[in-house]
Amino acid sequence: MSNLSFGAGYWKKQLPLTVLSYLSSFIAIVTDLSLPLLTAAMLDYAVCYDPSKAAGTPDGIFGFLFTGKYGALGTMKLFLSCAAVFLVILLLRLIFIYIKNISFQRAGLRMESDLRDDTYKKLMQLDGSALSGFNTGELMTVMNRDIVMVKEMYTRVFISFFDSVTVMIVTCIFLSSISPWMLLIPVAISPALIFTLIRYARTMKVIFTDVRRAYSDINLTVQENIRGVRLVRAFANETYEEEKFRRDNYRMRDVMFRLDDKMAKYNTFFDGFMQIAYVSAIIICVFLVLNGSLMVGALTAAGAYVMKIMSHITQISQNISNMQRQTVSLGRLKNFLETESGIREYPEALCASARPHIRMENVSLTLGDKQVLKNITLDIPYGKKVGIMGGTGSGKSVLLKSLSRVFDVTSGEISIDGQNVRKYALDALRNEFAYVFQDVFLFSHTIDANIAFYDPEAPEEDVRDAAETAQAARFVEKLEDGYETVVGERGLGLSGGQKQRLSVARALMKRAPVLILDDASSALDMATEKKLLKAVKEKTPENTLLIAAHRVSSVMDCDEIVYLQDGEIVERGTAKELISLGGRFASIYRMQTADGQLDDSSYGKED
Ligand SMILES: Nc1ncnc2c1ncn2[C@@H]1O[C@H](COP(=O)(O)OP(=O)(O)OP(=O)(O)O)[C@@H](O)[C@H]1O
Ligand SMILES: [Mg+2]
Repeated sequence: MSNLSFGAGYWKKQLPLTVLSYLSSFIAIVTDLSLPLLTAAMLDYAVCYDPSKAAGTPDGIFGFLFTGKYGALGTMKLFLSCAAVFLVILLLRLIFIYIKNISFQRAGLRMESDLRDDTYKKLMQLDGSALSGFNTGELMTVMNRDIVMVKEMYTRVFISFFDSVTVMIVTCIFLSSISPWMLLIPVAISPALIFTLIRYARTMKVIFTDVRRAYSDINLTVQENIRGVRLVRAFANETYEEEKFRRDNYRMRDVMFRLDDKMAKYNTFFDGFMQIAYVSAIIICVFLVLNGSLMVGALTAAGAYVMKIMSHITQISQNISNMQRQTVSLGRLKNFLETESGIREYPEALCASARPHIRMENVSLTLGDKQVLKNITLDIPYGKKVGIMGGTGSGKSVLLKSLSRVFDVTSGEISIDGQNVRKYALDALRNEFAYVFQDVFLFSHTIDANIAFYDPEAPEEDVRDAAETAQAARFVEKLEDGYETVVGERGLGLSGGQKQRLSVARALMKRAPVLILDDASSALDMATEKKLLKAVKEKTPENTLLIAAHRVSSVMDCDEIVYLQDGEIVERGTAKELISLGGRFASIYRMQTADGQLDDSSYGKED
């Protein structure tokens, strides 16, 4: 689908308002353009009436005013009648301009909100790999700037083009009614003008592609610096970051210089055209007045019409420039909205079970050109507690995410109750799992709203209960506003361990049959971690529990522990079996325990 027809799909939805705005615009233009004709007739036949020079009474659209019914020629009464008609036309014009503005702006805002809705839905729907093709700066530019640009193009710019073309056609008709000779100027300058406008459009498209790229880059740098401001300060790396920002900023400035330069050159050219056309029109008029085929009033009207045509040529050139900028945005927006998620839903999707039996058989996964999981086989009947250990980058998080199809495995099969996970409806599949992700994210909202994220209507006791199980209740209750304390970016700063506990509470509220803790207690002291895991297991003794961790204390009680290395299971068994095996797990166990016993006596005092 071409870019223009893609945008037209959204525009079409606003057809009634669009038709209304175009109709009102047309009426406003015709009324506006009729005014010079009325002024000319008023000058020649009411204000400066000279029977020796006048060739009969005027005809055309205002002929009815000069039949004598509204005052004899050259009288005050006729002048007042003309003035009254003038005022009525002026009023009509204002009313229609108002209707036009209201209707096209409404249509535009509706189109903008439809586009924003779809972009947001797409953002939510795209899987991890598809999203990684867009950096944050690009996404912010698409969601903020591109959408507005596209709206402006389909509403403001299109109607402005329509206005200009209408003005030119109607003006040519009115001009030819004064004297066909007046058409000489528009006809003579058209070829050169069209040629220049096409060149202008091409030049602008190239520059605006660079402008958008510079804008997206600067957006990314600003975004990263806002998020990483503390890190930058902590590393005393301000100079480097300032330098990086300055580079982006100067690149933006240079592109804008180039843009302004080209615009100034072309605008001078268009202004030159305008001046030449105006002077030529006056010369033609003077000749026509001198040889008696035109009256002086008509000369003023002709001058006004030529100026109208020329000012709309300037408007067209501006619109071409705007449209080139907007077409670049339209292309980027279309590209994003047409990006397909790699994760497809099965046509006749299955519903999920409340007691899922998960099986991974010979599962391998390649991301980019790296194999991150290799021949993983794991049987997880409902209720089993599995610990996943392994060095950093060994594939723990990827393994856990592949269960709910954040990544689709490359070979092998993940099944639930004997059916491939791909056969389940995505929503149903994801409702089987409650994740506590490794990188905790809290919304800028109250603690209560963050915990009750899955079910905002959940009763207060449930929220408190989840907080209690996650060992978060005591620190929350100590806060001045308790559960109403706003956290996240705009709120209170929390420690890493506090955030992790809120994140566990949030996952518990989902009451999914499988709870996944991905390094979810790494920031907790061992005693609190122990209490948390104990409480979770007591709360939901039946549920499946999958724990990825670096600390042996997190997985000690699990029914099975697998040890990953480079995406492969290299050791498996219970903690006891692995310790007696004397392999990697055993050596970590020895390292993390003072004398072979997990030491947690001195921790857990915070609460
Ligand atoms: N979205 C992604 N695209 C490409 N590669 C990825 C992606 N996510 C993770 N990887 C790669 O997969 C490998 C395993 O990553 P994973 O996050 O599973 O490690 P981990 O065992 O959880 O490490 P850690 O203990 O540090 O959390 C790493 O090499 C990582 O670079
Ligand atoms: Mg991880």
